[in-house]
Amino acid sequence: MRIVNEDLENSPAACGAFLVYCVGMKDDEISKKVQEAYKQIAKAYLKKVRSGSLDHRFVERFLALFAPGQKILDVGAGTGEMSQEMLLEHQLDVTAIDFSPDMVRLAKKEHPGLRVRRMDLRKLTFKPRQFDGVFAMYSLIHIPEGDVPDALGGINRVIKPGGFLYLALQEPRKKMQKEGFYPVVYNRKINMFINLITESEMRSYLARAGFVVKEVYRRAPHLGTEYPFMKLFIIAQKKKVAR
Ligand SMILES: C[S@@+](CC[C@H](N)C(=O)[O-])C[C@H]1O[C@@H](n2cnc3c(N)ncnc32)[C@H](O)[C@@H]1O
Repeated sequence: MRIVNEDLENSPAACGAFLVYCVGMKDDEISKKVQEAYKQIAKAYLKKVRSGSLDHRFVERFLALFAPGQKILDVGAGTGEMSQEMLLEHQLDVTAIDFSPDMVRLAKKEHPGLRVRRMDLRKLTFKPRQFDGVFAMYSLIHIPEGDVPDALGGINRVIKPGGFLYLALQEPRKKMQKEGFYPVVYNRKINMFINLITESEMRSYLARAGFVVKEVYRRAPHLGTEYPFMKLFIIAQKKKVAR
């Protein structure tokens, strides 16, 4: 019997054949297109996250590092489902940000008790060392890889020394899989920008930004509902000596 991953490995999609386009676009244009895409899929996204998560066991590893009342910044919080869970079930002091006006609107509507602000994760306006942890679940995946080092630097700035960062990322399965626009799995008319970063690339970005990697997990994608890339999860700690 063939397992799902082998099928996926050999499918045209897994070889990058369904990459729509990617080259020569400026960062601003990419951001605009990501926001336009989320405008189209905001409600469908909410439905998808509410239908269940395959990542909870990794998220729990991160949440176990905090005590009630500690401050968490959820960057690229989307519809705020995880922020709400961190607030209600873990009693964490959560601030959620997202750069999509439509996702922010939906998060506020669905979770009136949540602190949600519109902000680009690459331009955090918080004071330094404000948060005990930063949670970035599938949000860094939407910025060009060239922006990742500065984004991590900005995130490091707002975390207290010794605080933790959670990343959920898309990792290429094949060398030929490159960052670019891919059709959204549950609405193939919409194309979404996704960067594809390997564990070793991310380790070196994190080290340069002042983080120490503590835990790494990965899982295979779920065919039919997810992009055909590995799901990579990293928990990193800001160095205890202030930078
Ligand atoms: C795949 S969704 C993840 C949402 C949420 N973290 C979750 O896991 O359910 C990605 C979110 O990141 C947001 N995002 C993408 N690029 C961003 C940026 N540069 N700054 C802030 N938010 C961003 C998108 O608007 C979207 O809401």
